[in-house]
Amino acid sequence: MTSHNSNTLILGIESSCDDTAIAVVSSDRQILAAHTASSAATHSLHGGVVPEIAARQHLDSLMPTITATLADAGVTPAQLDGIAATAGPGLIGGVLVGTMAAKAMASALSKPYFAVNHLEGHALTARLTDGLEFPYLLLLVSGGHTQLLMVHELGRYERLGTTMDDAAGEAFDKAASLMGLGYPGGPQIERLAETGDASSVSLPRPRIATRDCHFSFSGLKTAFAQQWLKLDEDEQQRRAPDFAASLQRSIADALVRRTEFALQHAGDRYGCRQLVIAGGVAANSHIRSSLTALAARYETELFIPPVWLCTDNGAMIAWVAQEYFARGEYSSLSFAPRPRWPLDPGAEPPPGRGIRA
Ligand code: KG4
Ligand code: ZN
Repeated sequence: MTSHNSNTLILGIESSCDDTAIAVVSSDRQILAAHTASSAATHSLHGGVVPEIAARQHLDSLMPTITATLADAGVTPAQLDGIAATAGPGLIGGVLVGTMAAKAMASALSKPYFAVNHLEGHALTARLTDGLEFPYLLLLVSGGHTQLLMVHELGRYERLGTTMDDAAGEAFDKAASLMGLGYPGGPQIERLAETGDASSVSLPRPRIATRDCHFSFSGLKTAFAQQWLKLDEDEQQRRAPDFAASLQRSIADALVRRTEFALQHAGDRYGCRQLVIAGGVAANSHIRSSLTALAARYETELFIPPVWLCTDNGAMIAWVAQEYFARGEYSSLSFAPRPRWPLDPGAEPPPGRGIRA
């Protein structure tokens, strides 16, 4: 069944972390409405996302946010052609809340249900925002993930690299927490860094000489903490901008170096000259400009979705469902959410320990 305007309309639900994000997206790439209820302020008190608190907040926010989004879009539930929700990877409490709501709506409305991989949402966002053609290289840098992926086609992803320990956003958040800046830390570090000297604190460039695409940020975090904790309170106050700027540069350098290897691979092997950056860390302007310079050196076209679509949102979830809807592929109502759900299950694990999906 198609909706009133001959485009299909899908409701997307994202609830795998701290935001309850809902959107209605049409098959012609229009975001009719999008609303987000965030529990970040509550988590800020704890220096990071508390899964139990997040799950309860999703439960409180979900139905009012869906109602507001549908009203804003001017769409009734009966006009929807499908309901999609993140089914992993992520914090299972929130994923269950979104999944149960999507299944209940799909069942009551007799419409298709889509169990969406959160990472696939980030991976395909540039197709929603820019109508990008396959294939392209994706650098996904968020609080939960740091991955380099070749996006070959719908459903076919090749993971070139991932983090061996912390995600890039986590490195920002942990450093910020140590500095007493609150959560999320990335934006605060970026603001402080504006007046700091990025070469004044000597920090390691993680895995800079290694010729592969895997990331590691825990050594950087430790080095940062050791130097920060040597300072007395007055010095910490005075040097905070220098520490922020040095950390930001170190993370940017690591991202650029790994992405450079991935670009070489994408170019040599697939003739691919398109790079997409997504995830909350892509909001950082120093990181953006470093990657812009890299892409220019490799004669690669760079796509960065608008910040609100780089971070977690409902539109990317609805969009993945639109892509599968077009292929006539729906999920079963018995789909079991997956807290771990790699996009490329056969990917080579990075060397070392603490491997992430
Ligand atoms: O994609 P996202 O909204 O949520 C997930 O983790 O999935 O990313 C959030 C992460 C946090 O770690 C936050 O500190 C980081 O993105 N972030 C930034 C900036 N804005 C958000 N990191 C550096 N600079 C920023 N301006
Ligand atoms: Zn995300």
